[in-house]
Amino acid sequence: MTNIILISGLAGSGKTYLADMIKDKLKNLFDVRYFGVTQENYQHYVELANEDDLLVLEMHPPFDKIDLKDHNLLHVVISKDWSVYNQDLSKEKKKFIDDFFDKNPKRERWNTDIIKYNKTRFAHMSHANKTGNVILTNNLEQAFENIKGWTMDIRFKELFLFANENYDYMLYHSPMLQGETIYEGTAPTMDKFLSLNLESFIGTDKKENTCLDIGCNIGAVTQLLNQLHFKEVFAIDVLTENITCAKWMQKKFYRNSNIHYEYHDFMKLNQKFDYIFALAVLHHIALKHPFVEVIKHLAEITNIATVIEINEMPNFGLTMEKIKTILKRYFKEVNVIGNAYLPVQKTIAKNRWIIHCKK
Ligand SMILES: C[S@@+](CC[C@H](N)C(=O)[O-])C[C@H]1O[C@@H](n2cnc3c(N)ncnc32)[C@H](O)[C@@H]1O
Repeated sequence: MTNIILISGLAGSGKTYLADMIKDKLKNLFDVRYFGVTQENYQHYVELANEDDLLVLEMHPPFDKIDLKDHNLLHVVISKDWSVYNQDLSKEKKKFIDDFFDKNPKRERWNTDIIKYNKTRFAHMSHANKTGNVILTNNLEQAFENIKGWTMDIRFKELFLFANENYDYMLYHSPMLQGETIYEGTAPTMDKFLSLNLESFIGTDKKENTCLDIGCNIGAVTQLLNQLHFKEVFAIDVLTENITCAKWMQKKFYRNSNIHYEYHDFMKLNQKFDYIFALAVLHHIALKHPFVEVIKHLAEITNIATVIEINEMPNFGLTMEKIKTILKRYFKEVNVIGNAYLPVQKTIAKNRWIIHCKK
């Protein structure tokens, strides 16, 4: 089933402006393909579209035979009152429409007469209604909000079905999209990200430096790193299922991100990176490898700096004193900047820490 937004309205109603908004603002959610079509040729473009694309078709009324029943359709009809229409119309567009009628004297001219304008406008709605799922609007910003809601519904349904199949791997994070939580997982993703205090540690510019996120899980923090701090991010996780989920989230919600997710065991990774993020992961790895080996390896593959979020494990001999002592052997600067959030309780924990380290 292809996702189709059909935009129709009289010449000069703002169809192309609305299509541009969709192309620009929904490019993270869909591969948006846009075509100006007629009722004679629109099927051709529908047939060429991929299942998961968002096809935006712009069409001029009048039309009376459109069949998009078998697709996921939203038909946006733009229809403005005569005076608003004339006020919104640019001089160039006005001339364009006049020229069109001058060259096509057989077409009934509706653009200079409110009676004919309204007749055409209402006939348009009557034809449009036959396509199904129509919204009628005279306000393009409001139309876009409706469109956004419709597309988010599509993505959210898919997400919930995917999360149901992959619950064990999707439960941890609360992924964000444009500053809003997509769904609440056990970790407070944004609070956790803000508490890393990256602006003061690495600055506010978007860096060209290489960056690695170790134990990226479904990529919720990775996505924020790419959006706010690094032009390109590499991310690894030791669970292939997590990498599958991270890639799925990228394909559905963050299409324009520049992140490379790969299955990898950190302890076997030899490539070096300028900045490395090891968040809530080293204490897991230390269950399998001596902690000193974990930190030695982390330092070996770090060029500039690393940011660590780590839980003390006193029963396991992993106290803050020990963590600091070992870090100081391999990093020039080690700064414990504060406590970190616990998942599930989502409160700041007194034995969980955020540490900035520089080589
Ligand atoms: C508690 S989650 C933390 C996720 C994310 N880094 C964060 O801060 O929210 C730990 C993640 O590390 C991964 N992990 C554990 N051992 C790893 C290893 N040796 N190499 C890479 N990833 C590992 C797990 O599969 C899991 O996704």
